[in-house]
Amino acid sequence: MAKYAKYIIEGGKRLSGDIDIHGAKNSVLPVLAASLLAGRCTLHNCPDLSDVAAACNILRHLGCTLERENDNISVSASDLTSCTIPESLMREMRSSVLFLGAVVARCGRAKVSMPGGCELGPRPIDLHLSSLEKLGVTIEEEYGYLNCIVRDRLRGATISLPFPSVGATENIMLAACTAEGETVIHNPAREPEIIDLVNFLQKAGAKINVGENGTIYIQGVKSLRPLEHTIIPDRIEAATYLCCAAITGGKVLLRGAAPGHLTAVFPVLDEAGCAIRAAGGTIELSAPERPRALRMVRTMPYPGFPTDAQSPMMALSCIADGTSLFVENIFENRYKHAGELARLGARINIEGRVAMVEGVKKLHGGGLVCTDLRGGAALCVAALAAQGLSEISQISHIERGYQDFDKNLRSLGAVIRKV
Ligand code: UD1
Repeated sequence: MAKYAKYIIEGGKRLSGDIDIHGAKNSVLPVLAASLLAGRCTLHNCPDLSDVAAACNILRHLGCTLERENDNISVSASDLTSCTIPESLMREMRSSVLFLGAVVARCGRAKVSMPGGCELGPRPIDLHLSSLEKLGVTIEEEYGYLNCIVRDRLRGATISLPFPSVGATENIMLAACTAEGETVIHNPAREPEIIDLVNFLQKAGAKINVGENGTIYIQGVKSLRPLEHTIIPDRIEAATYLCCAAITGGKVLLRGAAPGHLTAVFPVLDEAGCAIRAAGGTIELSAPERPRALRMVRTMPYPGFPTDAQSPMMALSCIADGTSLFVENIFENRYKHAGELARLGARINIEGRVAMVEGVKKLHGGGLVCTDLRGGAALCVAALAAQGLSEISQISHIERGYQDFDKNLRSLGAVIRKV
């Protein structure tokens, strides 16, 4: 049913109020995969999202028992009954490839269907596979399945990633914690979600450390132990709500956030003319009547500007006073939302990785289709400022990553309904 749900947004209302930020989707997914290694764990601050449900279904399929109560999830992975993840479960979520390293470490083998196509352009997993091979996994592709076998045992290795892939770094960490000997990951991803996984693994007894230059060192241990862990706040959810408030000339207070993870986003909002105050776990934003243009937003691996916040920020720039430039350096095809934004009257020109947005004074409502998770959220950001009604379909994309999106926006004074 949710697949056919839509949001109807009546734009032009100034948002004001405060909301709580949930736990990070991109943190809880690899941590759930890691729970296979810890035997038992209890996780706090878990968002209630379809991607999290998909990860829980994978764990259940593998033989784990799970209990969810509010934002707590308990996983018991003491007796696994399968090391195969079928296509139906892999297709639900591309991040299911994160289970590969953990299943192989736990069972000595894994059979997973190739992750399905992706809306962000080609999203290969070559770095995941070549890294696992370095750790001693033999991988064969057969009828759309990856057959992974550890012939002897997993052995530590030195791996230099040509690009700091988030998922590949996570898979290596998961496979290496209980491998024999030392693993060194040069040029790993440094996203806060990586550090959250490092913290989880350390609490579970893994010998894993991050060096000053970011290099990750792992000394394999025999096994990991049960633990409790609290998931970090979702920085992309926070960035999205800041854009929602900013585009309506509003004022918002976010609670339970991690301002330290948004240091590349704040200067851009500041450039747009927003006043931002961050203290402890709160972020307060007060927006001008009309945002100013953004000279250049270049997406980069952390601590650079996050690619996941590019589309909501682009939505904001659509009504800015002046011309804004975006350069997308992480994904090849991450401007699909631009065509939809144009339906509201936005003026966006795209040339390869560069998008030029000529701010217009007003957007008007229209019928929009979500193209992907963050792109879908961006359409809502724009619709909040557009005059008249917008109908946004395929919102299942949005619900993969934003818990209670419409409810939160309503609490800030937006006129939004889910039908
Ligand atoms: C994760 C995040 C996603 C975010 C992205 C970049 C999760 C669940 N998802 O995705 O929200 O947008 O980081 O911050 O955490 N690549 C290869 N070969 C590989 C792996 C990646 O070429 O084996 C390329 C990808 O195609 C892409 C780039 O590297 O162009 C970044 O990918 P990666 O950092 O791996 O992103 P994900 O882990 O998929």
